[in-house]
Amino acid sequence: MNFTADEMMIDIEFQIQGQWKTDLAVAFALEGEGADDACHFTQTAAPWLSIAPQWRDFGGKKDERVLLYGPPAMDISRCMVIGLGKSEELCLEDMRMAFGKAVAACRDLGLEHIGIDIVSMARIGAKLGIGKDSLARELALAAKLALYSFTAFKKKSDTPRLRKLFFLLDDDFCSDSLKQAVRFAEAEACGIYLARDLANAPANAMTPSDFAEKARQVAQYHNFACKVLDEEEIKAENMNAFLAVAKGSAEKPRLVVLEYRPQNAVQGAAPIALVGKGITFDSGGISLKPSAGMEEMKGDMSGAAAVLGTFETLGRLGMNGVFPPRPIIGVMPLCENLPGGTATKPGDIVFAKTGKSVEIINTDAEGRLILIDALAYAEERYKPEYLLDIATLTGACAVALGEGAAGVFSSDGKLADRVVSRGNALFERAWQLPVWKHLIKELKSNAADLKNCGSRYGGSLTAALFLKEFVGKDVNWVHIDMAAADNADNALNPKGATGFGVRTLTDFSFTE
Ligand code: BES
Ligand code: MN
Ligand code: ZN
Repeated sequence: MNFTADEMMIDIEFQIQGQWKTDLAVAFALEGEGADDACHFTQTAAPWLSIAPQWRDFGGKKDERVLLYGPPAMDISRCMVIGLGKSEELCLEDMRMAFGKAVAACRDLGLEHIGIDIVSMARIGAKLGIGKDSLARELALAAKLALYSFTAFKKKSDTPRLRKLFFLLDDDFCSDSLKQAVRFAEAEACGIYLARDLANAPANAMTPSDFAEKARQVAQYHNFACKVLDEEEIKAENMNAFLAVAKGSAEKPRLVVLEYRPQNAVQGAAPIALVGKGITFDSGGISLKPSAGMEEMKGDMSGAAAVLGTFETLGRLGMNGVFPPRPIIGVMPLCENLPGGTATKPGDIVFAKTGKSVEIINTDAEGRLILIDALAYAEERYKPEYLLDIATLTGACAVALGEGAAGVFSSDGKLADRVVSRGNALFERAWQLPVWKHLIKELKSNAADLKNCGSRYGGSLTAALFLKEFVGKDVNWVHIDMAAADNADNALNPKGATGFGVRTLTDFSFTE
């Protein structure tokens, strides 16, 4: 099932000077600025701007916005000026948000085409110390993200849709690199839309086999190799920790494996393996969760969604001639975590794929159980140079970092640092948390090699430590706990899934 069709997305195009024609032009103003500062360039096509009466009450303050009207017959007869506040307090994050809000307001006005004055944009970019290409990428993506909506399960509406965003260019700004930057944002948006759709879909429409079907479609579209292992094949791989979680449900587990071998990958380069937690519903199992808010656990496959979304983005980038230097492998273990007569019980012991035994103290600590087998599979099968996993793993991560941020763990602090700084630069907030050996005592079991969870203290750290026990000593492994970053409600993210991870993972895929 396709939740967001391509044609639902706003198209981004370019108009060269002299050909500008749009329902509305967007420009940016700092506090205290008027038409000549903010719309210096737009005025060439909309000469009425300088005398538009709506300027009178506009101060350019942060969160302030004004709509200016000119004679309807003009090629540009409306302008929206976005206030960004004081120059000293300006930041890119605020600018993206303000632009996202403005684009949504244009949609709500019923407009079909809008344009962005690139000179006005670049002027603010200069103050922020950011080039016009990077800024165009961020604003193009902001527009897409602001317009995302998950309507697949609602009655169809025939309200008109904002269809096009034009970059209104002047001769100096009509560069190929700007167009490339915008195309990059579009590729990112495709992956994020997909990841949001997968996670927003209810568990009855996004079972492990539904997800696998979706992965097959993505693979077919982009020419990736795709393997889907069923229960028998998962058994044959000795993934007993994974199976212990799946056991309680009538829905069968799946292991989805994607392989992308880019055209100009460096000869013989070892791959990057991306592993994503794919619990399509987490009830907690026999260690049942409380019912309040349990519906949110349909999003417990957000890690797997981020991995599949990343493949979608990489595929789109490939269509634009952009290829990562290494093969990229995606491994997505998918199952439901339910209670029932066949479910795993607290105290049960299983032998994970690596041969270590695990005493399952709490069946709600299921993510780590499916991940250890998926990590072992990825490592054994593909001998990756980098092994990264992403998962909605622990509520404790929200306690540690607050909502909207991910914890990043690695035994290699520099590697974690790199992921954190790239993530933050791409507006996927992240912070490094430690993998401290001394906490391993929390995971000592009387009956098995390890137990699957420790005390309440440092819950995200012991989860990471648990994973590490199943990863080879000399693998460059990174773990991203995105449990506090999978949901949001803001200008760039209508309430629901975020698609967090797609940008960071895409960026990581280009690691030399
Ligand atoms: N999927 C949850 C973690 C989670 C919580 C994600 C809230 C998103 C929002 C995970 O499987 C879980 O239940 N973790 C337990 C671990 C505990 C039993 C050691 C938790 O965080 O409480
Ligand atoms: Mn759980
Ligand atoms: Zn879970």
